[in-house]
Amino acid sequence: MHAHIPEITYTLEPNLSPQAFQQLLIASTLAERRPAHDLQRLDRMLRNATLIITARNGPEPDAQLVGIARSVTDFAYCCYLSDLAVHQAFQHRGIGRQLIHQTRLHAGPETSVILIAAPKAIPFYEAIGMPRHPAAFIYRTES
Ligand SMILES: CC(C)(COP(=O)(O)OP(=O)(O)OC[C@H]1O[C@@H](n2cnc3c(N)ncnc32)[C@H](O)[C@@H]1OP(=O)(O)O)[C@@H](O)C(=O)NCCC(=O)NCCS
Repeated sequence: MHAHIPEITYTLEPNLSPQAFQQLLIASTLAERRPAHDLQRLDRMLRNATLIITARNGPEPDAQLVGIARSVTDFAYCCYLSDLAVHQAFQHRGIGRQLIHQTRLHAGPETSVILIAAPKAIPFYEAIGMPRHPAAFIYRTES
């Protein structure tokens, strides 16, 4: 007999808690590159985002959080995908690819999805065939 393997469930979760976001940042390693120690700032990042898509390990609302795509978008022209993170124990199962697909679907066909890859995620974006932009500019934050 096969053990039951729960389906990964993708959901819009505008009210995701900063504590859950913090845990996933740590479990995915993205905490190295985000202000994961500052719950108040994580809360602002979540409350002012316009598109938060989660991946959970099962259909229940409280199933384990294993992935997130957090974006700021106008749903009309542009969508900045700021944070894509998948729990380390759940990487290489297609969750990151599906979170990007869901982000594009929800942002809509008129909306460009734009992101800056973390250095170690560059091979992932290459593998999923995301086009590169040669003319991106950025004012970086200091923290
Ligand atoms: C980058 C990240 C989101 C990818 O998520 P994932 O769920 O593991 O990716 P997927 O399983 O959907 O991978 C999709 C494809 O990319 C490839 N891929 C994934 N990670 C890769 C890597 N590090 N190097 C090379 N290829 C990679 C997979 O092989 C897969 O291709 P295939 O299905 O044709 O074999 C995840 O590794 C992560 O959270 N990393 C740490 C945080 C981070 O850097 N986030 C990005 C911030 S910009």
